[in-house]
Amino acid sequence: MSWWKEAVFYHIYPRSFNDSNDDGVGDLAGIISKMDYLQWLGVDAIWLSPIFPSPMADFGYDVSDFQGIDPLFGDMKTFDKLLAEAHRRGIKVVLDQICHNVSSRHPWFLESKESRTNSKADWFIWHDPGEEGGPPNNWLSFFSGKKPESAWEWVPERGQYYLHLFSKDQCDLNLRNPDVQRALELVLRFWLEKGVDGFRLDSVSVYFKDPSLHDYPKRSVPYEPSSFSALSQYYVDINLERPENLLALERIRAITDEYKPERVTVGESASEKGILAYLDISGPGRLNLAFNFEFLNTVGLDARANYEVLRRTEELFDTRAWPCYVYGHHDGSRFLSRILGEDMTQRKPVAKLMAAFLLTLRGTPFIYYGEELGMVNTPVPFDRLVDPFGKAIWPAPGRDVARTPMQWNNSQYCGFSEVEPWLPVNTGDLETNVAHEQQDRFSVLSFYRSMLGVRKQRPELRYGGVRLYEPVGQAMEYERYTDSSRLTVVLNFADRPQPVDRFGTTAVVIGTHRKTGERIAGDLLLQPYEAIVLSPVATEV
Ligand code: GLC
Repeated sequence: MSWWKEAVFYHIYPRSFNDSNDDGVGDLAGIISKMDYLQWLGVDAIWLSPIFPSPMADFGYDVSDFQGIDPLFGDMKTFDKLLAEAHRRGIKVVLDQICHNVSSRHPWFLESKESRTNSKADWFIWHDPGEEGGPPNNWLSFFSGKKPESAWEWVPERGQYYLHLFSKDQCDLNLRNPDVQRALELVLRFWLEKGVDGFRLDSVSVYFKDPSLHDYPKRSVPYEPSSFSALSQYYVDINLERPENLLALERIRAITDEYKPERVTVGESASEKGILAYLDISGPGRLNLAFNFEFLNTVGLDARANYEVLRRTEELFDTRAWPCYVYGHHDGSRFLSRILGEDMTQRKPVAKLMAAFLLTLRGTPFIYYGEELGMVNTPVPFDRLVDPFGKAIWPAPGRDVARTPMQWNNSQYCGFSEVEPWLPVNTGDLETNVAHEQQDRFSVLSFYRSMLGVRKQRPELRYGGVRLYEPVGQAMEYERYTDSSRLTVVLNFADRPQPVDRFGTTAVVIGTHRKTGERIAGDLLLQPYEAIVLSPVATEV
């Protein structure tokens, strides 16, 4: 069994995990000093959002040197130490690889923009003005705010526009150019040779663009941007999930497959169409994993909706690809805020219920830092917003609210830093932090840790099959099984008791409301938001 199928990943946003040098921004040394915590928690792999040199126009997703470490985060020696410290504890390290664009200050772009004849003249997507002298077509930037903004930026030196599907500081690479492909291959090999365990591949859905530069066809809906996907609702985005992406992904996979021990590739894809194409489902040698974002968009307290996501995923993936579930990440609200809104009275039980759900699914789960504490969005007033996209779509919640510092304790800056951090800390809540929750065996953190422990011990949960049952009211039930054993998972997504029947004699393996070992036979009355993992017990004769 491949390690990445059995692993639970933990997504670290390095700016916000732990600040070791008190400059208000998290860093690699800070992560190293929390490696014991990660091991104690029981995660198997970490994915670091970008740590490379960057002008930070998009907080690291605008890279100016793919083979270095931004001084804000540390240096290469510290990275090597991080890798060694993680590996020493059996924790894998996955980096964020951005193949579709670079910072406008990357040397590749600086050279390319100088003239139409330099050696990198064709490394980016350059074009002459359109017929009316403006941008070549109507393509918009995903970072458009109240008003649609063109995805083209004029460069007087060349007398041409360059394409940027995200901010104008992120220039789209021309991946059709073999020199660009080779340059990116060297980047991948550089990190693979260092021993990183794989890559989370950023924005694979937009690697290639429509070469004919056709205008986006307009849909008849108003323009109301509040997330990246709003653009696709306004226009048919003909740059999403182009078939050429597959060739690039197959090439990347062929490179990572050359290395031993096995490395992983995880794609960030925008749609189900992309996910299905990028995985082994439709052809061998594609990505190992691609995030199933359905739960990121739809996960909620609704047994039927959650059942439908699982049913559909199982039907589509079957045995040909491995699901990869995620509730939240650095590009949107924290999942508890998304599903609970303003009313946080049920935050703890809901966090535990959702932990039991995520960690009993067939597939590889990703936990976003702080989810294991039950962290929610931290309010960020307009004058503290830093994300340009967040400013552009204000007062929609934006991305900063989910990128605030990890809550280590209840000191002034939550134990993240000794100085005011780059984003506000959530100080209103003195109990949602590591120090407090480690002492409380009923905390969200203690439950995540126990769930991770159970998942590690039970082969049914790590790689067993899944048998789904039709939900009854808000109760959901499924079995996870191997050839020789099975577990039953029962979840109540409602805020009221929910009866379920059909039970033989079972024993609680782990539960939010019941003790491990407790026997249950026959009908069962689930408590509000209760989750139980049950194992069958042979009945005594
Ligand atoms: C991905 C990243 C996001 C970034 C964008 C542009 O979607 O997750 O944070 O802004 O790519 O590189």
